[in-house]
Amino acid sequence: MATVTSTETQNLPISVQADPQPTEEKAAEEKPTEEKAAEEKTAEEKAAEAKPKIRRAIDEEGDNAVPATYPHYLPVWDHGEKYPPLEPFEHIEKGKGADPTFKDLLTEGFKLQHLTPTTGSEVSGVQLSKLSDAGKDQLALLVAQRKVVAFRNQDLADLPPQEAVALGSHFGPLHIHPTGPTAEGHPELMIVHRTVNTSEYDLILGNRNSTVAWHSDVTYEKQPPATTFLYALDVPEVGGDTAFVNQVEAYNRLSPLFKERLHGLKAVHSGIEQVEFSKKREGIVKREGITSEHPLVRTHPATGEKALFVNKIFTRKIVGFKDEESEALLNFLYDHIGRGIDYQARVKWAPGTVVIWDNRVTSHSAIVDWTTGERRLLARITPQGEAPIETPYVAEPK
Ligand SMILES: [Fe+2]
Repeated sequence: MATVTSTETQNLPISVQADPQPTEEKAAEEKPTEEKAAEEKTAEEKAAEAKPKIRRAIDEEGDNAVPATYPHYLPVWDHGEKYPPLEPFEHIEKGKGADPTFKDLLTEGFKLQHLTPTTGSEVSGVQLSKLSDAGKDQLALLVAQRKVVAFRNQDLADLPPQEAVALGSHFGPLHIHPTGPTAEGHPELMIVHRTVNTSEYDLILGNRNSTVAWHSDVTYEKQPPATTFLYALDVPEVGGDTAFVNQVEAYNRLSPLFKERLHGLKAVHSGIEQVEFSKKREGIVKREGITSEHPLVRTHPATGEKALFVNKIFTRKIVGFKDEESEALLNFLYDHIGRGIDYQARVKWAPGTVVIWDNRVTSHSAIVDWTTGERRLLARITPQGEAPIETPYVAEPK
């Protein structure tokens, strides 16, 4: 598990540093008082600049802002929060070997409804915070099978945040996002926050036709996320849905010859641009950006299903292909994934909703389509999974 290495001690304010040089002291004594005051002020300013900044959304909201229902979840950007590179670990897949009857998950009074035949389900009558370990394992399997499951009327947001963190920890070590804001004191809770009014909406669409940006989260990591949680804190009454695409189904739709060609290929995924973008905007960088090579087709460890594993946000190039070849193939795959509304599902948020998806076999996109100025505040818990694995192509019966 990564540890915090604060830069605070390296940047002590000058006023508390011991033993200034005697010659400097003497020179300061001989200067006129006004000049000394100016120098002192400069020193204070320098000290303030040297101390890592902490930006809090709550401090920046105007008096007219509608109060957040859970203000302790408003995002915080701590410039002093630094982590070493992630360490490899052995992933234990909780969904593997879990009871496929889901008897400890879908208990008395539950209701499960599929959103589409292949992709997405909604569950009510189950309280995630009360699940036994067997129930949590079955949750990993259900999410792997359905790709995304929305649980309604959950109490996760009302519980102390550390209980949400503990629930996520069952599935793997929790990822700390290299550039994303967090809930204060909870680095594992990445915060998604946006309020959109008409002028902001126009700005967002100023140079693009759609807000859709399909991706799987932080795929540049050596062991990218697996069973991932996002829970609602404040959401617009209408709008701000999240769309999911089933990349197992996207793989299944390809011809046998095409599938066979994709097997064995690897692609480079990069997090470097995300970090550089944050640096340029004077945002936070908690960990330096890395690149990883992952198979283009990965196999899910619990279901054995094969899924396309590329996304336009983080995938850069197919290893061994020339630029034009790589671009042509990747663009075909992005288009194929993005247009497959017959293997996609769309989840509407509501207070108390927790959405869980398997980042290994899906992509998703937020949909920015509300202009009411309403707050969309969500918290993400991101357990890491295995380094993506590939199993050989299996010829299909003719
Ligand atoms: Fe995401």
